[in-house]
Amino acid sequence: MTRAAGMSDPPVALEPVGKGNRAAILALELSPAQQGFVASNADSLAEARQDDEAIPRAVVTEGRVVGFLMYSAPDDDDEAIIYRFMIDRREQGKGLGRAAVAKALEEIARLGHVHRVSICYEPENEAARRLYAGFGFVERGLDEDGEMIAVLELGG
Ligand SMILES: CC(C)(COP(=O)(O)OP(=O)(O)OC[C@H]1O[C@@H](n2cnc3c(N)ncnc32)[C@H](O)[C@@H]1OP(=O)(O)O)[C@@H](O)C(=O)NCCC(=O)NCCS
Repeated sequence: MTRAAGMSDPPVALEPVGKGNRAAILALELSPAQQGFVASNADSLAEARQDDEAIPRAVVTEGRVVGFLMYSAPDDDDEAIIYRFMIDRREQGKGLGRAAVAKALEEIARLGHVHRVSICYEPENEAARRLYAGFGFVERGLDEDGEMIAVLELGG
């Protein structure tokens, strides 16, 4: 089983991206120090339009869009990849990131064909490292671009 969100984490929902939330996703911000950790949401949404396998999601709590994530989980592969994830800088540190990861893992597990989830982040991204380690992601080393790859086996 994957770890659930903490008992005190706020409730979040992952919603498909569409007309109703696109502007709010584009308005989300990171601190200057975090901007190198993930592509801009504008770039990610443009990429999602071109890539049939991209599954973009708004992270919503109490009716507000507070974050964005994107993953792929092709039918013919038992591995899903979460390759974009951010929480607005004004909303960080409240447990929303952890709650969103828990929801994403639930959604991916429900697909039924995925046995492994991988994720990557800059090696100096301590917040990401700790967040994912808390769910049981195990670091597997750097990829060719120097990003750390971490993997979680589902349903172990
Ligand atoms: C990584 C990120 C999504 C975390 O979101 P968040 O809502 O602030 O995270 P939470 O409040 O749910 O924190 C959950 C856990 O993450 C870790 N964490 C979060 N922020 C941290 C920080 N500044 N320093 C160290 N650990 C941190 C902790 O383990 C924390 O658990 P704890 O509070 O019990 O110690 C957010 O910092 C972010 O958007 N960063 C910039 C983009 C990015 O790095 N994305 C990930 C790589 S693709």
